[in-house]
Amino acid sequence: MMRHHVHPKDRGLSEAEGKALIDRLEETRSLSRGEWTDLIRGRTPALAEYLFGRARKIRVRHYGTEVYIRGLIEFTNYCRNDCYYCGIRKSNKNAVRYRLTRDQILSCCEKGYRLGFRTFVLQGGEDRWFTEDRMTGIISEIRRRFPDCAITLSIGELSRGSYRRFFEAGADRYLLRHETYDGVHYARLHPETLSASHRQKCLWDLKEIGYQVGTGFMVGSPYQTAENLADDMLFLKELNPQMVGIGPFIPHHDTPFAHMPAGTLELTLFMLGLIRLMLPKVLLPATTALGTIAEDGRERGILAGANVVMPNLSPTEVRENYLLYDNKLCTGDEAAESLKSLDQRFRAIGYHIAISRGDSLNQEIPD
Ligand code: 5AD
Repeated sequence: MMRHHVHPKDRGLSEAEGKALIDRLEETRSLSRGEWTDLIRGRTPALAEYLFGRARKIRVRHYGTEVYIRGLIEFTNYCRNDCYYCGIRKSNKNAVRYRLTRDQILSCCEKGYRLGFRTFVLQGGEDRWFTEDRMTGIISEIRRRFPDCAITLSIGELSRGSYRRFFEAGADRYLLRHETYDGVHYARLHPETLSASHRQKCLWDLKEIGYQVGTGFMVGSPYQTAENLADDMLFLKELNPQMVGIGPFIPHHDTPFAHMPAGTLELTLFMLGLIRLMLPKVLLPATTALGTIAEDGRERGILAGANVVMPNLSPTEVRENYLLYDNKLCTGDEAAESLKSLDQRFRAIGYHIAISRGDSLNQEIPD
């Protein structure tokens, strides 16, 4: 039998090598593609603990022990796209579709404001019923009624013109995960109508217009390699977004990826720690998906360097229909109504919820 040549790094990193890479990442805030790959592939529980200790120190230096909150309003689950992983993809005929009215959206904001939210995230599928005019009307009205709040949009890929109009109407922030940087990997997760490069172009447009931008990716999505994650880190470095949302891939039973394995808590936490070291001031949510794969997922996320949570502010009767993946949390401490108990959970690990807009410290001002 022919033996394939084994690269030394394929046998893993020694603990000392791993720590040296983490130290250098903290110092220089960057690594090469090969180093990212080695670190991600060669991670161990001991290395993860070392990383999380560093990540917490940096997080506390910049943001103290505050956890920022955003009220998530999932206002439509109609979507014209057909992403293979997503439960609200167009082809899923079993999804129970809904759309909130303008008044329902505004009521969510009223309720959120009373609960202490100062950021509203309008998230939805790519639903053309919400035309540019309708969206602009909704954004202007939220801006008028809540001058002290941040308005975040998460409504997918649109023209630069639409993005600009929403910004001028009063939107401050935009969330659009790049999902995966690599075009070939992207094409294995999406139909041909969608491309990694167009998604990235949208992010650059958003930045140029002046939005505070959030991007991110799924961890453990089907066919993902350590090299893909390395490319995601290099892309984050280049884009330098204000926020990075990452969470484990979780299969949804009515999608082509129903039988694919889920991403792990362990790798997601490791990636959170790496992002905190690379982008010290970034806003880093402990996402719903993280809270879904493990009961203590959000706390573990905070302890790995995260500093944001996004409880659900949607009307209770539609919450269960915004099912991007199986068992998605929408009740209990995931619900905006349970801020007190969420706060208690964070206090138990030395953190607490802050009532503020929670702007990023990363405003492109060199430090
Ligand atoms: N598992 C985990 N995350 C998912 N998303 C969509 N489907 C899934 C899934 N099955 C994420 C995508 C999207 C965000 C709103 O939710 O990254 O950008």
